[in-house]
Amino acid sequence: MKRRLFVTTALPYANGSFHIGHIMEYIQADIWVRFQRMRGHEVHFVCADDGHGAPIMLKAQAEGITPEALIARIAAERPQYLNGFHISFDNWHSTHSPENTELSQDIYRALKANDLITTRVIEQFFDPVKEMFLPDRYIKGECPKCGAKDQYGDSCEACGAVYAPTDLRNPTSTLSGATPVMRQSEHFFFRLSDPRCVAFLRDWTQGGRLQPEVANKAREWLDGESGLGDWDISRDAPYFGIPIPDAPGKYFYVWLDAPIGYLASLKNHFAKGQAAPQTAQTYDAFVTDPGVEQYHFIGKDIIYFHTLFWPATLHFSGRKTPDNVFVHGFITVSGEKMSKSRGTGISPLRYLELGMNPEWLRYYIAAKLNARVEDIDFNPDDFVARVNSDLVGKYVNIASRAANFLVKHFDGQVLDPRTLPAWATLNAQAVSHDIAACIEGREYGKALRAAMEFADRVNQYFDAEKPWEMARDPARREALHAVCSVCLAGFHALTIWLKPVLPALSAQAEAFMGCAPLTWSDLDRPPTRIQRYEHLMGRVDPKLLDALFDPPDAPPSAPPSAPAAKADKAVSSGAASANAAKPGSAGAGASKAGTGPASHEGVDTGPISIDQFMNVELRIARIVEASAVEGSDKLIRLALDLGEGRLRNVFSGIRSAYDPAQLVGRHTVVVANLAPRKMKFGISEGMVLSASWDDPSQGPGIFLLGADTGAQPGMRVR
Ligand code: MSP
Ligand code: ZN
Repeated sequence: MKRRLFVTTALPYANGSFHIGHIMEYIQADIWVRFQRMRGHEVHFVCADDGHGAPIMLKAQAEGITPEALIARIAAERPQYLNGFHISFDNWHSTHSPENTELSQDIYRALKANDLITTRVIEQFFDPVKEMFLPDRYIKGECPKCGAKDQYGDSCEACGAVYAPTDLRNPTSTLSGATPVMRQSEHFFFRLSDPRCVAFLRDWTQGGRLQPEVANKAREWLDGESGLGDWDISRDAPYFGIPIPDAPGKYFYVWLDAPIGYLASLKNHFAKGQAAPQTAQTYDAFVTDPGVEQYHFIGKDIIYFHTLFWPATLHFSGRKTPDNVFVHGFITVSGEKMSKSRGTGISPLRYLELGMNPEWLRYYIAAKLNARVEDIDFNPDDFVARVNSDLVGKYVNIASRAANFLVKHFDGQVLDPRTLPAWATLNAQAVSHDIAACIEGREYGKALRAAMEFADRVNQYFDAEKPWEMARDPARREALHAVCSVCLAGFHALTIWLKPVLPALSAQAEAFMGCAPLTWSDLDRPPTRIQRYEHLMGRVDPKLLDALFDPPDAPPSAPPSAPAAKADKAVSSGAASANAAKPGSAGAGASKAGTGPASHEGVDTGPISIDQFMNVELRIARIVEASAVEGSDKLIRLALDLGEGRLRNVFSGIRSAYDPAQLVGRHTVVVANLAPRKMKFGISEGMVLSASWDDPSQGPGIFLLGADTGAQPGMRVR
């Protein structure tokens, strides 16, 4: 049955750029949406800027611009992030829009007609200089309990006390420095304490739809000592928001109109005619259609608004309520909460500017996500290991291994795997079924583990059959064809399963396999003829992660002996393509001499000419001195004799494997014509060669190259 889905993420505040937390939420939702589309369902995936509220108004004021101009500036930044990370929203709108004004006012009128709006006079701090009522976060003073200075209006960071802003001693307005005064004002309330609301919300939150931990939270709120209080939905002018009908000087509190922005964006999407390819319905018919399912992806900090206020707002204005709210935890970076002031967190834009592949991040985040409200951590070492081992080492590897034989010996023709017994033992149908269930239930980590187990089995099958031996024996031609066809079919299946996570890579893989855009049911339509294998995805160079964490204006952190050629190049060219991160160019590629057979697919520049090779001047050097570098746990400083009548200074990242003393007197190989590089500790005039795995999980160690006895300093190596 074809499902009809209306899906949103939370609407980000329009007073700042996206951070990695936003991107994580969009990746989670985007994977789910792409999966639903591959299943043939109708999906309308929308978002918008959340433009209203005091912080945006005040920020615009501080910049001397209108809030509209601020929103427009932030909105203009959005596409580079969204396109950059392949987030496939069908529409992006704004809560500061005619649609939202109309919908919010209509909903308010309906609530009022339903006798759920009341007014009450409240007393609140007022800034006599700014002439505005002060939200709690703009009041500071001394803690009423411990006396600590400079505490916010709601709680004390020194002693943890929680209080009302009116309890603060010597309060001041952070906006003007003035002493706020108490002032009365009439406010509008949504009467959530009405028994109808309480009964409805108990049903809605406890009926089994919500994640267990979310339902528990909601129950605590509903059963709390004071029960559900009425909700203050009005703010006094000056306020950047939607005017409350028939109430001059009163505006809706931003959290009343923000979720209504979901509907406003959907309506705008229909009005633009963009929904038409999917449905013939009008916006009105669509939102009232009982068959339409509505889901919101949100973070754990806004559960209250989405499980209490939002369903009640919809229900009591006579509308359909969401089918579910999918709550995720927060992303931390190296175990730390993100904080702009402390400079932690990673910048999504810098990630793209460094030329890092957006699908590495999509994969890594997906691999960590499950259906629970758990925080996930971005750990740089884990990121490198996971992407390199799974995507490059397992998935892409299958294609390059099988394709070489298929193209060379069989003109790219692939046998139908369903005629081959080995294919049946891989059980792709059952795996596909499991993975679909996992993605549907947002258990992405589990889904990817199942896919990688399958990839392992395909690689093991390939290794066990030894097709490279078959290729030497004309009598085993048929067997060779069968083995490679099974592996290629495995790659095809994996491409289907990974497509929601890796949309761009899948498109390349589709071209390689000669397939139309893959849908979930294409498991039954294996490829019949493939193209020559072209590079699909490169390994993550750990140096890119150093660059990602370095503040943009500081020099890149000291790399091992190789200069950080790629990271630098990508930064200076501002390249936003995945290709800029390809390994295999000079620098890191050369320092990784002797990569083993399992990682041959990491060498992806294609063949080079002998002239190109001869451009690299390799010479024998004698290590005359070696010492540890103060302030670095990676580097050794070497004084090298290349037979030039002087010694060269070279830094090498081999400290983890060598004691400096044991190096003195040895001969090794140096890239002699590398441009000198200024590093934190001095100038490095070359690079010594050593062997190590591309992927540290393949095995530890760094092994310095040597030369047979008789080699003299300065001899050319070729
Ligand atoms: N404007 C409101 C939402 C209104 S929805 C009708 C808002 N905006 S926000 O920009 O602060 O947050 C947007 C989303 O990002 C929220 O779902 C929030 O939980 C999520 N995240 C903010 N920081 C996050 C992390 N560190 N990690 C993951 N998600 C995070 O709230
Ligand atoms: Zn205190």
